[in-house]
Amino acid sequence: MSKSKRDELQINLNLNVRGLVTSATLAINEKCALLKSDGKPVYRFGLGQSPFPVPDEVIQTLKDNAFQKDYQPVRGLYTLREAVANFLSETQKVDSSPKNIIIGPGSKELIFLLQLVYYGDLIIPTPSWVSYSPQARIIGRHVHWVPTEKEENYRLSPEKLDMICRTDPKKPRVVILNYPANPTGSSYSTERLKELAEVARKYQVILVSDEIYGLLHYNNQHVSIARYYPEGTIISTGLSKWCGAGGWRLGAFSFPENLYWLRDAISTVASETFTSTSAPIQYAAVTAFNGGIWMDDYLHHARRVLREIYKFISHKFDKLNISYPTVHGAFYIFPDFETYREKLKLKDIYTSVELCERLLEETGFAMLPGTDFGRQPEELTTRIAFVDFNGAEALEASRKNNGIRPLDGDFVRNHCGNISEAFEKLEQWLGDL
Ligand SMILES: Cc1ncc(COP(=O)(O)O)c(C=O)c1O
Repeated sequence: MSKSKRDELQINLNLNVRGLVTSATLAINEKCALLKSDGKPVYRFGLGQSPFPVPDEVIQTLKDNAFQKDYQPVRGLYTLREAVANFLSETQKVDSSPKNIIIGPGSKELIFLLQLVYYGDLIIPTPSWVSYSPQARIIGRHVHWVPTEKEENYRLSPEKLDMICRTDPKKPRVVILNYPANPTGSSYSTERLKELAEVARKYQVILVSDEIYGLLHYNNQHVSIARYYPEGTIISTGLSKWCGAGGWRLGAFSFPENLYWLRDAISTVASETFTSTSAPIQYAAVTAFNGGIWMDDYLHHARRVLREIYKFISHKFDKLNISYPTVHGAFYIFPDFETYREKLKLKDIYTSVELCERLLEETGFAMLPGTDFGRQPEELTTRIAFVDFNGAEALEASRKNNGIRPLDGDFVRNHCGNISEAFEKLEQWLGDL
């Protein structure tokens, strides 16, 4: 075999597992790094990573436990499982105890293992987080995308869920609900959660409630669907978003008692794969989940900063006549550039991918196309992760400004310079079309 043929095969092997390519968010990050190395300005709104530092108290616990070198129980350190269970009982008023909990190296891994051990179809609304569907495809599970409407904040409606389940009422299914959501920042009303819970119960659907952004609900009013469908809901959480510790890789699942068989199946696979999550990180996570006044303060200011940025961006989009679903939490917004379709056509831009590529090339503004989240290619929706700012500095500024509510109008301009600069460029680019 020729060298070039071998290289081509190697590239295919590297990039192509069951037709999948490198995760979209990681790919855009690499593209940004290339532009940066060419000395071009880049505004990083591609990767959804928390801009805030891990709280000092949690870092200190990690330092104090660097010596912890032993393998841990597969399901996780008991004190951590206790801390997660207490956290869920207190914040979500759900009945949870250490028996219900399993700890993993990121909730992404736990979601993957659940799909591996459970034989049901996967139901996910579009748009949804980039990894649910590729995970299902790696395993060979059938994925049922459910389109949602802009007018409904792109949230799954109980009617649509019922319609899908009705076609084959006994079929085993997993539905993943994520709220506040990646990529839209939208959440569900309590009423909606109750209605969805009713449908899930009717068809005995297993719900994975991905609440990784729960504590970043701007009004601190996140409510878990597990309150209304406790027997069939697995809650997914972790340190990555509200504790700013994505790279630490720690996630947790809470199972109801009648899904212990799934908990045990996941433990079995875990014992043959990752064995247990890093010991020092688990100790540090106990401090994070137990929380305290310092954590409340950290979260209060993190939410305040994010809400202010959302306000800033939403004003810009309103001015530009660009619609977006209401953001309730997290650090995402999902605009639709439909009103610019005719003008974009003049630049040979017809799809969300083309829109993202051209905007990145011409202004350095990096965002992800709606297609990465399951939307149709010709729909001009994109995801902006508004995280390109110094989180430590912004938290400090918010703390200093505590007496003034809301934060003054110049907060974003003064403390999140890249965001205001990027939106000026976007405004100009659209204006020049
Ligand atoms: C909706 C959603 N779920 C899960 C994850 C995975 O988080 P973890 O870092 O716990 O694996 C992410 C990460 O971006 C996410 O956005």
